[in-house]
Amino acid sequence: MNTRHLVPFLLTTSFLTAMITTLAAPGRWELLQPNIGISAMHMQLLHNDRVVIFDRTDFGQSNLSLPNGQCRNDPTELALTTDCTAHSVEYDAVSNSFRPLTVLTDTWCSSGTVAPDGSLVQTGGFNDGERAVRVFKPCEDSTCDWVENQTALLVRRWYATNQVLPDGSAIIIGGRRQFNYEFYPKSTATLSILPFRFLTDTKDPNENNLYPFVHLNIDGNLFVFSNNRSVLLDYKKNRIIRTYPLMAGGDPRNYPSSGSSVLLPLKPPYTEAEVLVCGGAPFASYAQAKSNGTFIPALTTCGRIKITDTSPSWAMETMPNPRVMGDMLLLPTGKDVLIINGAGSGTAGWELAQDPAYIPVMYRPEAPAGSRFELQTSATIPRLYHSSAILLRDGRVLVGGSNPHIYYNFSNVQYPTDLSLEAFSPEYLNTSNSNLRPKIVTASPIELSYGKQISLHFSVGLVYTTGVSVNMILPAFCTHSFSMNQRLLILQTNKVATLADGTYEVATVAPPSAVLAPPGYYMVFVVNSGVPSEGIWAHIQ
Ligand SMILES: *[C@@H]1O[C@H](CO)[C@@H](O)[C@H](O)[C@H]1NC(C)=O
Ligand SMILES: *[C@@H]1O[C@H](CO)[C@@H](O)[C@H](O)[C@H]1NC(C)=O
Ligand SMILES: *[C@@H]1O[C@H](CO)[C@@H](O)[C@H](O)[C@H]1NC(C)=O
Ligand SMILES: *[C@@H]1O[C@H](CO)[C@@H](O)[C@H](O)[C@H]1NC(C)=O
Ligand SMILES: *[C@@H]1O[C@H](CO)[C@@H](O)[C@H](O)[C@H]1NC(C)=O
Ligand SMILES: *[C@@H]1O[C@H](CO)[C@@H](O)[C@H](O)[C@H]1NC(C)=O
Repeated sequence: MNTRHLVPFLLTTSFLTAMITTLAAPGRWELLQPNIGISAMHMQLLHNDRVVIFDRTDFGQSNLSLPNGQCRNDPTELALTTDCTAHSVEYDAVSNSFRPLTVLTDTWCSSGTVAPDGSLVQTGGFNDGERAVRVFKPCEDSTCDWVENQTALLVRRWYATNQVLPDGSAIIIGGRRQFNYEFYPKSTATLSILPFRFLTDTKDPNENNLYPFVHLNIDGNLFVFSNNRSVLLDYKKNRIIRTYPLMAGGDPRNYPSSGSSVLLPLKPPYTEAEVLVCGGAPFASYAQAKSNGTFIPALTTCGRIKITDTSPSWAMETMPNPRVMGDMLLLPTGKDVLIINGAGSGTAGWELAQDPAYIPVMYRPEAPAGSRFELQTSATIPRLYHSSAILLRDGRVLVGGSNPHIYYNFSNVQYPTDLSLEAFSPEYLNTSNSNLRPKIVTASPIELSYGKQISLHFSVGLVYTTGVSVNMILPAFCTHSFSMNQRLLILQTNKVATLADGTYEVATVAPPSAVLAPPGYYMVFVVNSGVPSEGIWAHIQ
């Protein structure tokens, strides 16, 4: 019996922290970069294994100069009207190196998707950047940079949520004082903004409902979660077609009471979809932290709902530790959701959280209720407000950011602005699993067609032909504890054949439609007995 599962129910959190070091919890932390010059508030992996990272242009001077001795002279800028430092970098996950990028308008609390051609389409922000659309088209050398259009959105979008749609465009939902949505790029059918009353109905005086959680359902409609309520939106007809039950407890889960949410892995024959929402902060937390300096413990609950059910209901579960501002990641095994980063008390906002949530938790959706959570190896760096985490193609989780201050503050504060990047390697990367780890030998990238057979070749030390699966993950845009567009499809796997040269071939089928898998670049993993290969890039359109 694994005693780790018992720990959360028997011990208090502080005692647990002491225990965990002696229990050899799973997973490993590694410092990749002590200082990339900026704080990783927003992150997106692109299909050349480079990660576009940015914070905001009004933090003051970052720790990295702009390329070629450039300076930004912007009379509307709030911190510095002349700023020669960068606020965006491109991080190469393979060579572990980075270079400054040039972002001119303010990207603070913005949102994004990746277009079908693999370009990052990032929208909105603050001040001179609130209506901007910025495109970053990846390149193999180091010549590409941001291209900005300051007036491409119809209204300001600050704290909005984006979702890539089956036609490859992005829907941009909400934002501060925006109870509506729009699209990018616009077609004749999608020229104007469309009202979305649900966002007005779920807001409270603290604007507790920014960055709503949005998931593209398997029927093509959008599941939108705001605080304690959720609906299914037919965005084309601008109609709410379903209202889900209130989540038990009624506590808020969206910014600044930031919990997080994922659409659980979609399995063939793709007739069901489930959503998981974890953490957040009780209603009083924001006001108490702001006015009284009182930090209320964060929520310990998760709610899980089958959004495709005829009479859906929330099943509530309890995490081993409280968490606000956590990040949730779907891992390549298709059976693990990592909950990482955040705080144990307070809320999102400047100086509003305490008790860094150092200990990540793994959630296993398929395990029996009551034994789904497993504590992981503790981090050492606080990852509070404005931290982020994304999955890399090799199965590691890239973790960065944390700046609970209005400027870059590296000293004289309890939680200094963090400019580092770390990797969390889940247990499946442990060398004790080397014999089980497949290596895909099919050349990357591959081009897929909806519903068509795919054949992948791989080598492996020890194969369990009955235990091989193929999973496909859409890299997410991560900011403010939510990974927009995060999506994992378990593919229908037909058979595994042994080839004459001792390698293997797995026959599988690409997702049947763009509703299930919006066009773009995915990472494809072969998983053998729970151990994933490195992914390869696959394009589908
Ligand atoms: C790797 O696995 C071995 C054997 O299960 C275990 O003893 C060790 O602690 C693991 N290492 C890490 C870093 O998790
Ligand atoms: C970056 O930070 C280091 C110390 O961490 C400091 O010595 C250096 O001056 C900083 N550079 C810039 C451009 O801020
Ligand atoms: C910026 O976007 C607006 C709105 O779509 C468009 O009218 C304008 O031509 C664009 N500007 C540039 C320089 O592309
Ligand atoms: C649900 O959230 C709203 C604010 O969005 C709040 O007014 C309401 O009291 C909450 N419901 C419950 C049962 O707590
Ligand atoms: C501050 O704390 C006092 C005493 O607990 C309480 O009455 C008051 O409502 C709190 N203020 C806010 C804004 O939460
Ligand atoms: C944080 O940084 C700002 C801008 O450099 C500075 O004015 C402020 O004094 C710093 N705060 C602390 C607590 O040092």
